[in-house]
Amino acid sequence: MEKPKNIKDATAVNPPFAKNYANEFLVLESGEGCYLHDIKGNKYLDFGSGISVNSLGYGREDLANIIYEQSKKLLHVSNLYTTRPALLLAAKLTSLGDFAAVHFGNSGAEANEAALKYARLYSKRKKNDNSAVKFLSFTSGFHGRTMGSLSVTPNPTYSEIFQPLIPECYVSEFNNVEALESILDSSFAGVIVEPIQGEGGLTPASKEFAAALNSLCAKHDVILIADEIQTGLGRTGYPFASAIVGLNPDIITLAKPLAGGLPLSATLIPAKVNDLIKVGEHGTTFGGGPLTCNLANHILDLLLDPEFLFEIIAKGDYMRSKIEDLAKKYSFVGQYRGAGLLTGFTIDTGDMDQNMKKSGEVIAKAKEAGLLILRSGKNVIRLAPPLVISEKELDLGFELLEEALKGVFVK
Ligand SMILES: Cc1ncc(COP(=O)(O)O)c(C=O)c1O
Repeated sequence: MEKPKNIKDATAVNPPFAKNYANEFLVLESGEGCYLHDIKGNKYLDFGSGISVNSLGYGREDLANIIYEQSKKLLHVSNLYTTRPALLLAAKLTSLGDFAAVHFGNSGAEANEAALKYARLYSKRKKNDNSAVKFLSFTSGFHGRTMGSLSVTPNPTYSEIFQPLIPECYVSEFNNVEALESILDSSFAGVIVEPIQGEGGLTPASKEFAAALNSLCAKHDVILIADEIQTGLGRTGYPFASAIVGLNPDIITLAKPLAGGLPLSATLIPAKVNDLIKVGEHGTTFGGGPLTCNLANHILDLLLDPEFLFEIIAKGDYMRSKIEDLAKKYSFVGQYRGAGLLTGFTIDTGDMDQNMKKSGEVIAKAKEAGLLILRSGKNVIRLAPPLVISEKELDLGFELLEEALKGVFVK
């Protein structure tokens, strides 16, 4: 397989975007398979998938045809009506577990907003207790940027300036069973947790922690919400990563890969919650439109095909072995993290400031070499290629990654 070469500068510097992001952007134009092209004609192997969104890769005729055909029929109906694609998708999604209904939205944050609202609604109506309203989330968790989802995202970089957030949100240490036992009681409405922390360093919930969450939430009748926005729908080789860690959530939230890059989210809820909702208590204009749902029906069939999932597990094992090889070779490559094709490793120099700086440099060097990779947390290099990636492309990606690592560390 040919290596990308002659990378020319294709960045836009200081464009008039709100200054939330970097001030330099790679300007992308097109893609095919697992490759992306920028406006200068440079080619990149993608180990980021638009942050776990583009699971099926780029330039797909099947997705283009569905979009074209559906757009000729209907793009939008209000939520006074519904469409065949939405009905079909709702049936498919609810059959993935013990769910009675789905609330569609447009983004991960919105899916979590809905989950938090439903947890409060359940707690107040079921317990007939206006004081059982607290939410619990965990250190290094990430659940979105809206005021509600931000209130359960305990990272001061994202939230400090926006205080006060919604009241009654508490934080406990991730994977600390004792701390969990001492805080969680029936004054809580909901607990929100990622089975594997996508933005917070790819740490999985331990089996003991997941078991404690299951039993304490059941004991106190607290709604357990699994945020599977990054981990769900095949990314880890399973429909839901909750299955890997042994989490039994009441509600699951999904978004990123659901409509292959178009905005669609889903909040899957059980009958005990759905039965208590009254008309008008929550809603959306665009969520669950016919275009995104039609696409999601097709994508879901592909992503959740057992053979496809089986291949993801095998490819994930292969990536793990490649990472472990790098760790044997280079002292600055630390622990393997993640599961399936949501993988990574820590950069470990012995000094956290250096680790963070070097992680950024590795990502930049990889881009120069023609490989797009991500960071998770402070010093974890995150590798999340499209799920359709081949073994040859994985090999090429690791060759380019090693080149980048050597470029940063081996002078
Ligand atoms: C685990 C998790 N939850 C929630 C979100 C928020 O999703 P969105 O950016 O679509 O609002 C993200 C996005 O990265 C995520 O990774």
